[in-house]
Amino acid sequence: MNEKNKIDVLVGLQWGDEGKGKIVDMLTPKYDVVARFQGGPNAGHTLEFNNQKHVLHLIPSGIFHPDKVNLLGNGMVIDPIAFQKEVEGLRKYIPMEELKKRIVIASGAKLILPVHRILDGANEEAKGDKKIGTTKKGIGPAYTDHVSRNAVLVQDILKDTRTFTNKVNDIQEQHCIALVLQNKKCWDAHALLQELFEFFDAARFMQRFEIVNGPYWLDKQLREGKKVLAEGAQGTLLDINFGSYPFVTSSNTTCGGVCTGLGIAPNRIGKVYGLFKAYCTRVGSGPFPTELGGKQSEEWCATETVKEDATPCASINDPDPFLQGIALRRKGYEFGATTGRLRRCGWLDLPALKYACMINGVTNLIMSKADILSGFETVKICNNYLIDGGFTDEMPMEISELFSPQYKKFPGWDMVTPAKTTPFAEYLKFIENETGLPISIISTGPDRNQIFIRE
Ligand code: GDP
Ligand code: IMO
Ligand code: MG
Repeated sequence: MNEKNKIDVLVGLQWGDEGKGKIVDMLTPKYDVVARFQGGPNAGHTLEFNNQKHVLHLIPSGIFHPDKVNLLGNGMVIDPIAFQKEVEGLRKYIPMEELKKRIVIASGAKLILPVHRILDGANEEAKGDKKIGTTKKGIGPAYTDHVSRNAVLVQDILKDTRTFTNKVNDIQEQHCIALVLQNKKCWDAHALLQELFEFFDAARFMQRFEIVNGPYWLDKQLREGKKVLAEGAQGTLLDINFGSYPFVTSSNTTCGGVCTGLGIAPNRIGKVYGLFKAYCTRVGSGPFPTELGGKQSEEWCATETVKEDATPCASINDPDPFLQGIALRRKGYEFGATTGRLRRCGWLDLPALKYACMINGVTNLIMSKADILSGFETVKICNNYLIDGGFTDEMPMEISELFSPQYKKFPGWDMVTPAKTTPFAEYLKFIENETGLPISIISTGPDRNQIFIRE
């Protein structure tokens, strides 16, 4: 028995897309189990090795390693159709028998029904120009059904067919009636029925995997001395409680979500790896104080496509911040892994980073995409906000246009090296001093091997 064995955690410290997939894949050899604790197919986690790129949405990022088990935890919302598609995609690389050994699903995870995706779209449309810019994967409506105690859980799949189908049909029908009453005839009844057939097929497909009692299963792993890594999705500033509400996702993306999403007691949490990009990005609406090009960039990213984004001639050293932002997006390939949308780009926001370290109890920082800032003549970090004539380095309760970020400037660098006296080292040292935390790992490219370990 191993009472002291703890679970390590990796969370994103910004607005998602910090490179969690790559880092979890890189860390997996040190662990036996990788567990997702929240979110669903809104996530897009990219892994690269052997010149091959893989994007995962529901399946944890340890999947490419043999002899490791990947848990889809209780706190997740799982779309069976998306799950089946993802597994089918992986079968090109990993045989089904092997996938069945590497994936286990917690019985308490919630199911995303086809109608949840329709509701997600309808809610967004109703919000007009106040829309959140969700991934339209049904995340909000599925979690809403959970808190209103109507959700269909993974464990329901194991009940007899009639009980399961009746439950799904009842919920789906209630939502459709509500939409009709609101005069939102925003779905095609035939297509929805078709999707429902697909849903039931996919739910049957899920039964081919081991469905476990999540907290007991994890407890057993820990007692047997197995090493467990919890993989966060989204990022701290998208947390339902501590993010820039209402422009957030519908789950606890922060370290507390590990306890509520996996059934892990707080005193069983070990290291907390906090991952951040060397700059910031955000996809969807909502405040982003250090965005290059401000409102102009936000509007551009909400309406333009990848093709149009390539039209303006922009340099990473352009004096116009909007154009500089476009150049940064192109250099960093900042296009959504799930939706293909343009990611808004800006400088590192230190007050937000410190806030994220505090909320998560980060013990070790990891920086990604340090390579993307090479070639900039000047690199900036926001270290203060100016509000009502005074400076603060605290995240305000509500971010508004009435305050402005203040920047510290750093000379740019050509190459990211671990040497101690380069301009890049100055950048690192400043962040370490300000957060009081070590930057233990630095990622310098999308590939699994493009990494410096400083631990
Ligand atoms: P996640 O959602 O946090 O897993 O991140 P995404 O996969 O959505 O986005 C990160 C993107 O950056 C992916 O295209 C990765 O392949 C890529 N990436 C990750 N780390 C690095 C890095 O250090 N440098 C570069 N250039 N790309 C990286
Ligand atoms: P990964 O795990 C970046 C954003 C959406 C939107 C808001 C709410 O790849 O980092 P939702 O569909 O969750 O209701 O959308 O959250 N969002 C993400 N942004 N990375 C993600 O995941 C995201 N998942 C959701 O763009 O602003
Ligand atoms: Mg992503």
